[in-house]
Amino acid sequence: MEHFPIIQALCRTALADASLATRKQIERLRDALVKAGDDKQAASLAAMLMSAERNKEVVPSRLAKSRAQMPGEALSPGTPVPVDRETAAPVATLLFPEELRADPPVFNPVVSAAIESMLEEWRNLQALSALGVQPAKTCLIYGVPGTGKTRLAMWIARQLEMPVVLARLDGLVSSFLGTTARNIGNLFAFANRYRCLLLLDEFDAIAKLRDDPQEVGEIKRVVNALLQNLDGRQELGLTIGVTNHSKLLDPAVWRRFEVQLEVPKPDFNVRKDISRYFMAPVECPDSHFRLLAWFTEGLTGAEIEVLVRTYKKSMAVHGEGGRDLIETLRHFATLNSGRCEPGRRGLLFGDSKALFRAMKEAPELNFTMADIGEVAGRDKSTVSRAIGKRSSRFEAPQTGKVTDGQPDPDRS
Ligand SMILES: Nc1ncnc2c1ncn2[C@@H]1O[C@H](COP(=O)(O)OP(=O)(O)OP(=O)(O)O)[C@@H](O)[C@H]1O
Ligand SMILES: [Mg+2]
Repeated sequence: MEHFPIIQALCRTALADASLATRKQIERLRDALVKAGDDKQAASLAAMLMSAERNKEVVPSRLAKSRAQMPGEALSPGTPVPVDRETAAPVATLLFPEELRADPPVFNPVVSAAIESMLEEWRNLQALSALGVQPAKTCLIYGVPGTGKTRLAMWIARQLEMPVVLARLDGLVSSFLGTTARNIGNLFAFANRYRCLLLLDEFDAIAKLRDDPQEVGEIKRVVNALLQNLDGRQELGLTIGVTNHSKLLDPAVWRRFEVQLEVPKPDFNVRKDISRYFMAPVECPDSHFRLLAWFTEGLTGAEIEVLVRTYKKSMAVHGEGGRDLIETLRHFATLNSGRCEPGRRGLLFGDSKALFRAMKEAPELNFTMADIGEVAGRDKSTVSRAIGKRSSRFEAPQTGKVTDGQPDPDRS
């Protein structure tokens, strides 16, 4: 738009002591600019409107705690979401706190404490601003697939009771030149207008366009749009980016995030806690969880969830006397052979004496003979005898069964 700096100055002056009518007119101008594709100018007006709103919020009579200080209008399920001009696909999906899970994902104490401290900042905006500081408004969550990153982002929204504006890649990425950048502008203008958490899940997909040499110009445009919009949003609201390809992200985009939280693969104790979490409401002895944690070394929360669900399903179908834990592990290892640690997988399909001995010798399992009996469905003396024997009668055939199909006389 021509003479925009003058219009911008006019708006700023008007907003210093704005009536509702003045505000409405500036909002109209902002929407018209979005429509015309002048995303940068629209973002600048949106920022101005937000900051005027925020100044109003600090009038003493309106000093309600925390959320009242988050600027923006309230989102409702009926709020229209911008769409891609060519395909009419929405650029975002709205999720409201009450639809999100209330139970936290399971992480190690260090990661959990860091997340809690971040939440504490966001819950105490007022106390922070009294000291002239701001919480980190941009957070990048990265880590390998299936470690609970998306779940964490959703849980944060639930904790802060904020609706989520979840960017939709199918709506954002367009095959038409320049349209992806415009869609990104529209997404941010929308998120800046409302009180919400903007979630850019798997947004490395945008950066991946870079792999295509035909797309060099377009990706530059898209990355620039992302950078400008991230900068414009800095002061306005909460933004969480989630990626499992952190290396693919443009370094400039990466730098825009104040908090960069790596969600690690779960260690032994966390794997145990995750197993226990997904096992509920079924109760099992602690030895079961230790074995599950031992067997799932190198696996993610998502894979542990599948394994525990398999065990629960077999319990539901066959009852208590159904498939025991070791049989379930074998079943899982057959269906997920590429995922399991080869040494442990080999033990499951080998001589049961070697398996029992490995369990006895693993320091993290800390198993007694009775524990081994408990997970293998044998009694303690059978286990002691098996470990003590020179050669085993439990030689497993290739199919992976411990016994060769004959009734096992030692089974109690
Ligand atoms: N640490 C965890 N605590 C609880 N559940 C978990 C954890 N990690 C994974 N899960 C479970 O695994 C599934 C996948 O989690 P989620 O979608 O959050 O993973 P992600 O890291 O976002 O994966 P991707 O990178 O593939 O998108 C969910 O059902 C989630 O409940
Ligand atoms: Mg995810």
